[in-house]
Amino acid sequence: MPAKVDMDKIVSLCKRRGLIFPSSEIYGGLASCWDYGPMGVELKRNVRDAWWKSIVHERADVVGLDTSIMMHPGIWAASGHIDSFTDPLVECKSCHLRWRATEIEDKKCPKCGGELTEPRMFNLMFKTSMGPVEEEASTIYLRPETAQGIFVNFDNVITTSRKKLPLGIAQIGKSFRNEITPGNFIFRTREFEHMELEYFVRPGTDEKWLDYWVKERFDWYLKLGIRKENLRLRQHGKDELAHYARDCHDIEYLFPMGWSELEGIANRGDFDLIQHAKCSGRELGYYDAEAGEKYVPYVIEPSAGVDRSVLAFLIDAYDEEEVEGEKRTLLHLHRSLAPIKVAVLPLSRNEKLTPLAKEVFNKLCPNFVTDYDDSQSIGRRYRRQDEIGTPFCVTIDFESLEDKQVTIRERDSLAQIRVPVEELGKILEAKLKGEAFDASPLWATREK
Ligand code: GAP
Repeated sequence: MPAKVDMDKIVSLCKRRGLIFPSSEIYGGLASCWDYGPMGVELKRNVRDAWWKSIVHERADVVGLDTSIMMHPGIWAASGHIDSFTDPLVECKSCHLRWRATEIEDKKCPKCGGELTEPRMFNLMFKTSMGPVEEEASTIYLRPETAQGIFVNFDNVITTSRKKLPLGIAQIGKSFRNEITPGNFIFRTREFEHMELEYFVRPGTDEKWLDYWVKERFDWYLKLGIRKENLRLRQHGKDELAHYARDCHDIEYLFPMGWSELEGIANRGDFDLIQHAKCSGRELGYYDAEAGEKYVPYVIEPSAGVDRSVLAFLIDAYDEEEVEGEKRTLLHLHRSLAPIKVAVLPLSRNEKLTPLAKEVFNKLCPNFVTDYDDSQSIGRRYRRQDEIGTPFCVTIDFESLEDKQVTIRERDSLAQIRVPVEELGKILEAKLKGEAFDASPLWATREK
């Protein structure tokens, strides 16, 4: 089934509504780099928080970590990234565009049809140098994954956290890859954010835990509103496994350009701990006190991209419908992901309405991310909130001054209820938590 929205519409909505801007725009932009605007930064943070909540806070068997982007270069030699983190690169002899050999179908340049060079291996790590005197500075790399920061801290965490295996260590942070062909908006960029869990288990239980995490992670996207028909699983063939992986399953999403990887869940075996023990000279094993034995744990790794998840959530939430003969564009974002939870909208800028509207805003904003907007017509303000996925708008009108009631308008159904100002916080809290607050007898009209 084709995706219902093309990427241009998503890019244009993101620009128009302050979600995502092209980076360095006033200087003509920088290819495949993007900046998150006021709405985008909230959405991205909500995606990270939802992941951290489900992976770290809601579990007793996972702890968090935040390691540095620049690490000892020996780490990348041990992990195999210096030798094996490469893509085969081909160059067009006519237009000199470069391509990943794996995306070329008929040995011709996809842009101009020109002849291509033989593939050569291209390392995707960004190099830089550390130290004030250039000649003496040592070469270091910007991390291409956050995972290695976790492996080299395994012993620190095990000896300080008083936890037993199975134990997960989670990290969210920036990664950098000098991708040959970045593109498709924020799908593939050279700077992006990883959400990675390394889950350490007893060898022999690894296959069971791999199945467990594949299901957990698939369900996470469903719980946050992604439609099931737009998600699927794909197991890697033996010939496409990364150098460290024994097995890997991708969660794929139906992006506008077709089914593509959203997240990978790999069984890394004991590859990384063995390598780091060998290259650092430090023992990296685990003593299982109950069984009275020592072993090197195996690792199950669910690894997702924040930006790629943001893109999938945006695409899945995008909708256009007709209301009373007018087109309405909206994002059906899950309430926990929506950048703004509640918008307070006085019917007009009339000075009589402002004090009550401000009072309502001040009451709500300590508890929910709340917007206040009194410019332009109420219809246009509703449309703006719909386009950024705000689940609830609260309208203050002249009647509100008399009866101290305001109108809540629901984004998806367009239904409206009038509620007393004192009840407003309680009602919104229940609705935003997804609790069964039965306001249905109160919902009166679909917006005209
Ligand atoms: N530590 C394992 C690892 O990094 P990966 O399959 O290369 O595995 C995991 O990356 C996830 O990170 C991908 O599924 C994707 O969501 C995200 N990702 C990887 N490269 C990316 C890029 N260049 N731009 C945006 N996201 C990327």
